[in-house]
Amino acid sequence: MMNSDASKLLTLGYDLDAWNGYEAKISITTDISPAANSHILICGMSGSGKSYFENALFAKLIIAESGEYHFAEYKGDDSFAYLRGCSRYYAYKTTLQALDVVYSRLNARQSGEDESNHPITLIWEEYMADVLSLVNEDKKAAAVVMNKVSEILLLGRSLSVRLITTMQRPDAVAFPSGSRLNYGVVIVLGAAIKSIYEMLLPDFMEQAKGRIFEKSEGVALLQASQLYFIKVGTVQNSERMRQICVKALS
Ligand SMILES: Nc1ncnc2c1ncn2[C@@H]1O[C@H](COP(=O)(O)OP(=O)(O)OP(=O)(O)O)[C@@H](O)[C@H]1O
Ligand SMILES: [Mg+2]
Repeated sequence: MMNSDASKLLTLGYDLDAWNGYEAKISITTDISPAANSHILICGMSGSGKSYFENALFAKLIIAESGEYHFAEYKGDDSFAYLRGCSRYYAYKTTLQALDVVYSRLNARQSGEDESNHPITLIWEEYMADVLSLVNEDKKAAAVVMNKVSEILLLGRSLSVRLITTMQRPDAVAFPSGSRLNYGVVIVLGAAIKSIYEMLLPDFMEQAKGRIFEKSEGVALLQASQLYFIKVGTVQNSERMRQICVKALS
């Protein structure tokens, strides 16, 4: 999926075999034009590089398109401390406000009340941990949250509302109506955990068999049909990346 139309493409990472084999940086990109399903799921065990990847991906997304962004972050991870103070950054107990804002926008577009069509993206760091803690506190409220997330996944593409989530393991229970299938971009970083692969890449087990991935390496499955082995690059200018993200959330 190499293409020169940078305005519609988002670089996810680099071809792992080319990177390791002959130090070539061959970009693996995904289509983020309105026609494409660009909901993104990022999984992997603790320390596999999810947050690092998400942060870099967020900055690249902002550069690639002019959109509206909301960032919900349950864990209070130090990697995102620099976003505290931004008006569209929602930490810890306030993450559900981000969902409500984006979900109402989806509804307003669906009813025709809102005729805008610029991309609106909700980034939700550690979605599963957030939802599981809510299940323990209030099952009914958790079900409402999961249903809203599912609706965004099911209807978002046609209404230009996108969801980007990270979590360690994307258990089906947090995605009612089979909505987990609606992620157009699935990334699994680090160790190839069989149960996660079986959930997300059932038709690609053979292709991935025997592969060993280090931190910030893994698989990217695009539109349930193309599998890539990717290496996440290192951010060259973290200060610049942070400035871009802060501006987009302020
Ligand atoms: N591509 C990379 N280049 C340089 N450092 C990286 C890269 N990916 C991850 N790291 C570093 O590795 C460590 C673990 O990464 P990260 O915090 O993103 O993992 P995680 O999957 O989000 O873990 P957790 O589930 O515990 O939140 C961090 O210190 C991070 O800065
Ligand atoms: Mg993390």
